Amino acid sequence: MDNLTSSILDKESLPLLREALERLEAGFAGLPPAGAAPAGPGLERVLLQVAERLQDNYPYFHPLYAGQMLKPPHPVARLAAMLAIWLNPNNHALDGGRASSHMEKEAVAEIAAMFGWQAHLGHLTSGGTMANLEALWMAGCLNPAGAIVASTQAHYTHSRLSALLRLPFEAIACDRRGRMDPLALQGRLDQGGVGTVVATIGTTATGSIDPLPELLALRDQYGFRLHADAAYGGYFRLASNLTAETRRAYERLPEVDSIVVDPHKHGLQPYGCGCVLFKDPSLGRFYKHDSPYTYFSSNELHLGEISLECSRAGAAAVGLWATQQLLPLAAGGEFARGLESSRAAALDLFARLNGDERFVTAFAPELDIVVWAPRAARVSEASDMARRIFVEAEQRQLYLALANLPVAFFDLPAGMQADRDTLTCLRSVLMKPEHQAWVGTIWEILGQATQTVMPPRDG
Ligand SMILES: Cc1ncc(COP(=O)(O)O)c(C=O)c1O
Repeated sequence: MDNLTSSILDKESLPLLREALERLEAGFAGLPPAGAAPAGPGLERVLLQVAERLQDNYPYFHPLYAGQMLKPPHPVARLAAMLAIWLNPNNHALDGGRASSHMEKEAVAEIAAMFGWQAHLGHLTSGGTMANLEALWMAGCLNPAGAIVASTQAHYTHSRLSALLRLPFEAIACDRRGRMDPLALQGRLDQGGVGTVVATIGTTATGSIDPLPELLALRDQYGFRLHADAAYGGYFRLASNLTAETRRAYERLPEVDSIVVDPHKHGLQPYGCGCVLFKDPSLGRFYKHDSPYTYFSSNELHLGEISLECSRAGAAAVGLWATQQLLPLAAGGEFARGLESSRAAALDLFARLNGDERFVTAFAPELDIVVWAPRAARVSEASDMARRIFVEAEQRQLYLALANLPVAFFDLPAGMQADRDTLTCLRSVLMKPEHQAWVGTIWEILGQATQTVMPPRDG
């Protein structure tokens, strides 16, 4: 039993942390001893209490967790970030995080290079929301009266951030595949007043990719700022198993004005690690501010000079830098193969669902997110059954998600009545490379859960 338990969470890598800690300590050997922080009698008690409290979680690290956007960090990210926490660097000013600021600049330059940008302005953030805030704030600096528009399937953060920034916001209709409809956008552009279009590269619900070639053609015609929210899908630029149409969108990504990508989603990092990039480095002028307490130690760029947040976790930059050392952001490399496995898992699950008459599917996944519903006489009934399958699956240790999506996304069979505009469907984000090997097991458990809700008909 002990052996079984020990294989669930990786502990093999822990001795390496000690070795690395000793190497780190050697760099400060010249200091007079000040005594390491004492453990204190309560430490063990509280830490074990924490371990017990944390048992109250879904097993996000396990392939049977196939629900929301949650992906375990790579061991190197976990260990490197933890190592850095012994120093607790702050990547605001170089004084507070010298090595980790340099590591951040290097890691961010590698992400920019993945998008084909050699020159860029960019930095890490606490997550996708802060990164998009900076991108929309910049849009407002450049065009304070211009509206922000994003698709109806864009992350809710864009309307909320626009309100925060007091910029007008409007949603643009999507096609039946959850992508911004270029005709609807053109209709809105004809009315004038649009400052920035947000293209979502990997929508949160379905992983749909807005049609970037068409949006770029509209930008040529109408002139607006184009921001890509690639918080979820950005890294898939490296994957070789996308459809030709999806690939075309990724190929044009270098032409947008700003990009958000979240290392804490598909970049194997612990929360919080987002990233915002601007194509034009001269936009750094908008960040200009005085700080009477910092920036004196060198003329070199302090990341706080180009970031809205002040204190930021140096440990996040260290984890990302280490991960990119081990798994470079290169097409054909191990990191890219991980993304390809996730996508292969989604295609496999989609094909099984599509070939099974118990289920109703939507469009084929563009990335690694699959949505489906049980077949029923009415959409309301299918929604109710989806909720029950979700519960039954959880009881069998398969953790799925639910989403409320437009009925138009689904290929309803003849006779299935659309008595509601939206369908509550099952959703699976197959983010872990191991999901590819686990689709068979996931399918088996889904079958059992489905059978309890829709027993096979006689005959
Ligand atoms: C497309 C997209 N943009 C932005 C966000 C917000 O990112 P975060 O949760 O890191 O703040 C998400 C989160 O799922 C997302 O999917």
